[in-house]
Amino acid sequence: MIFIRRAEPADAAQIQRVYASTNAFSNTLQLPHPTVEMWQQRLTQLNPDDTFLIAVYDGVVVGTAGLHVEKKLRRRHVASLGMAVADSFTGRGVGTALLAELLSLADNWLNVLRIELIVYSDNAAAVHLYNKFGFEIEGTMHAHSLRNGVFVDAYSMARFHPKQPQIPRTGR
Ligand SMILES: CC(C)(COP(=O)(O)OP(=O)(O)OC[C@H]1O[C@@H](n2cnc3c(N)ncnc32)[C@H](O)[C@@H]1OP(=O)(O)O)[C@@H](O)C(=O)NCCC(=O)NCCS
Repeated sequence: MIFIRRAEPADAAQIQRVYASTNAFSNTLQLPHPTVEMWQQRLTQLNPDDTFLIAVYDGVVVGTAGLHVEKKLRRRHVASLGMAVADSFTGRGVGTALLAELLSLADNWLNVLRIELIVYSDNAAAVHLYNKFGFEIEGTMHAHSLRNGVFVDAYSMARFHPKQPQIPRTGR
């Protein structure tokens, strides 16, 4: 069974293993060969406003999902989201379980109105997962980042709190 909980600094070595897998670092903004030390630092320095969850299967960390609430006062209703599942565990519902828990926290506890994310436009699995949870594509960013020697496009996607769907949208 998949168990979701907050990450702690002691999880650094296992999280490093998730991001050492090729699809996990390639489809996020991470780099190959992540170090445990980098993850230790990152987990130790997490802002209390940030939520960083891990999925644990049989004592092994198999995925992570994080939500970063914007610091600027006028953007306090906005959070950005990122996630990754270890390559060997994709397609087994880990991403769904992580995203369900993270969105439940955002909707019911964190007072977040808008959640935004960036996803490579050819990342069909992630786009499908985000669509399933109500994220919509707002635009395409061309040559957004370098991935294995090629500049790739990315979508900007966002989802609004389900009880606040009537957000005025100009330019649509
Ligand atoms: C995207 C990612 C988080 C999904 O996690 P996961 O554990 O595989 O997700 P799940 O098993 O819960 O479900 C994935 C959904 O995508 C679907 N899917 C899988 N591969 C797909 C593909 N190539 N095209 C379309 N849909 C696909 C599955 O059928 C499932 O849909 P369903 O729930 O409607 O049946 C995972 O693949 C991952 O970490 N990839 C690398 C890093 C990454 O892309 N992070 C997101 C960056 S924004």
